[in-house]
Amino acid sequence: MDTTEWATSIFKKLDQKLDVEATRLEDKIPYIPENGHYIDMGKQDITWWTNGFWSGMMWLMYHATGKEIYRKTAEANESRLDAAFNQYTGLHHDVGFMWRLSAVADYQLTGNERSKARGMHAADLLAGRYNPRGKYLRSWNRDRAGWVIVDSMLNIPLLYWARDTINDPRFGYIAEDHADTVMNNIVRPDGSVNHIAIFDPTNGELLETPGGQGYESGSSWSRGQAWALYGFALSYAHTQKQKYLDTAKRVANYFIANVAQNNYDTLVDFRAPEKPILIDSSAGACAACGLLEIAKQVPEFEKSLYLNAAVEILKNIEAKYTNWDLGVDGIIGHGTPAYHDAKLEVPLIYSDFYFTEAILRLLKKDFLIW
Ligand code: GLY
Repeated sequence: MDTTEWATSIFKKLDQKLDVEATRLEDKIPYIPENGHYIDMGKQDITWWTNGFWSGMMWLMYHATGKEIYRKTAEANESRLDAAFNQYTGLHHDVGFMWRLSAVADYQLTGNERSKARGMHAADLLAGRYNPRGKYLRSWNRDRAGWVIVDSMLNIPLLYWARDTINDPRFGYIAEDHADTVMNNIVRPDGSVNHIAIFDPTNGELLETPGGQGYESGSSWSRGQAWALYGFALSYAHTQKQKYLDTAKRVANYFIANVAQNNYDTLVDFRAPEKPILIDSSAGACAACGLLEIAKQVPEFEKSLYLNAAVEILKNIEAKYTNWDLGVDGIIGHGTPAYHDAKLEVPLIYSDFYFTEAILRLLKKDFLIW
């Protein structure tokens, strides 16, 4: 079966299962299923960083199929997220994930002005986290004024969107300053990346690089690699600055070399001890989207490296980790929130999101939701 035939068959299964899940969930906001069914993150924690992924997946599927169930479900989640704006202390740099995938995707596809206002409100909150001495966006709250995590590279597309939407270059300057700081302090020369960098918030001096969600400081948390890979490819797409594409390729080449060693399975950390073997499918699915974005940007003779690696990763995930049972919530299993987490190898909403995005990219049924 060629890649398009394969992707078409998977798209049909995705459509079937996501339609059933959307009908069953109504306006619930999913994250990790418990006993086969999603609990409502909207009730548990409306400010949780993953609360935009379901909406985003629904917009991707609405764009690909035109089915009303997807639009209605996305809109219901987006309205519920308004409650998060009222909990200011719970909001963090992940406003980028939350509103880029929900309200901004809505505005992109429907022109809804209320959604545009939500997106701009979130972009202002994100831009307000900028530290002009360190030239970075602070990531987390509490007593962490100097903390930056590589995940932030997927939050800054909200700023590129705001730049273009109200024609204000300020948002782009902040996004690029932040991307430069991550590129110079978090991405290592060999293409691996740190998860966290702690700066002196008064002058931007790099103080420490803790291990964060990876195995330890100096190791190589695979989802962090994926955030950098896809994030820099997106920064290139939004700025056309060669340094971002070069960085994305450096991280991608390192990522490909590592997954190729394990039959395209993504270990949670590429530099953890050999045992236990722990998988994080979400890292593979996110990286596949980044590899497909890079394949779009590089000259013809380089494309196959990135395209083929993405397809190998996706086929491996599909063969080993999918659950197509319509009665059970969640499609992609073996996602791991963090190396030292109580929950290991579970279905995660963002594994489903990135897998769906990647399949739609392969079929050219996608739109740039970042
Ligand atoms: N952005 C949080 C995570 O990747 O787990």
